[in-house]
Amino acid sequence: MALSGELGTGKTFFTQQLCRFLGIEENVSSPSYVLINLYKGSIPVTHADFYRLTAWEEVLELGLDEMMENRITVIEWPEIAFDLLPENTLHIRFRFSGEAREATINSSVKGA
Ligand SMILES: Nc1ncnc2c1ncn2[C@@H]1O[C@H](COP(=O)(O)OP(=O)(O)O)[C@@H](O)[C@H]1O
Ligand SMILES: [Mg+2]
Repeated sequence: MALSGELGTGKTFFTQQLCRFLGIEENVSSPSYVLINLYKGSIPVTHADFYRLTAWEEVLELGLDEMMENRITVIEWPEIAFDLLPENTLHIRFRFSGEAREATINSSVKGA
């Protein structure tokens, strides 16, 4: 899942709720500084944040491929890695909408 949207629109919050749904009891925090967190749930989850990366090569260095095997991989600020993401990526775009928030889910970057 590639989560796009401005700061504060709910990307980390969405991931926290997803992890809770999968039975992960650990505290799920923003990976902005550590870049990647791994969680064991009924389905394991990788939670990554590419905000601080400046080149897609850095994504490869992080081991993106292994990161995505047999698990749900959630990536905040995924734009730098768009060309590396698999076909079955769900693109979710978060937006502020007045007092509320809105999320658009799409199977390709263009629709989101
Ligand atoms: N759908 C939501 N309902 C209630 N609070 C939310 C929701 N989405 C985000 N928040 C709150 O807004 C703040 C910023 O959200 P966060 O998920 O950290 O944003 P992002 O990761 O997109 O920068 C957090 O305090 C979070 O708890
Ligand atoms: Mg975040």
